[in-house]
Amino acid sequence: ALERTLSIIKPDAVAKNVIGQIITRFENAGLKVVAARMLQLSRADAERFYAVHAARPFFKDLVDFMVSGPVFVQVLEGEGAIQKNRDLMGATDPKKAEKGTIRADFADSIDANAVHGSDAAETAKVEIAFFFPELSIHTR
Ligand code: CMP
Repeated sequence: ALERTLSIIKPDAVAKNVIGQIITRFENAGLKVVAARMLQLSRADAERFYAVHAARPFFKDLVDFMVSGPVFVQVLEGEGAIQKNRDLMGATDPKKAEKGTIRADFADSIDANAVHGSDAAETAKVEIAFFFPELSIHTR
């Protein structure tokens, strides 16, 4: 099915100057960028975005990292976009990520892991709405 998913290029990958290289991978896989913005998350924003992880031991480190610099947030659209993006990203822990995936190639640690992608249709809907009003999404 034609889907939309939320992608965040995290502060580590922005700092490494690889936004373009990561987006090229999405485009080469047939995903279209239909919305995009660069922003600095506040602590409150990051805590709200990752609220499902609030009780996890890694929550504080996750929030600290996500506010450490600007992020580049996009909506990707395409056939099976949610799974396709997850395949391109590779495993959450870059040490476990398959060769040729974004995290294997650009990430340094489980926190500084280059990208976030929605994990299911319902979370994609919530995560997209967190950053983008419907009118700012440009389906082509
Ligand atoms: P992300 O896909 O953005 O979703 C939550 C983030 O928490 C995850 O990527 C990791 O960067 C970070 N994280 C840190 N430790 C863990 C862990 N043990 N399990 C899952 N996510 C973790």
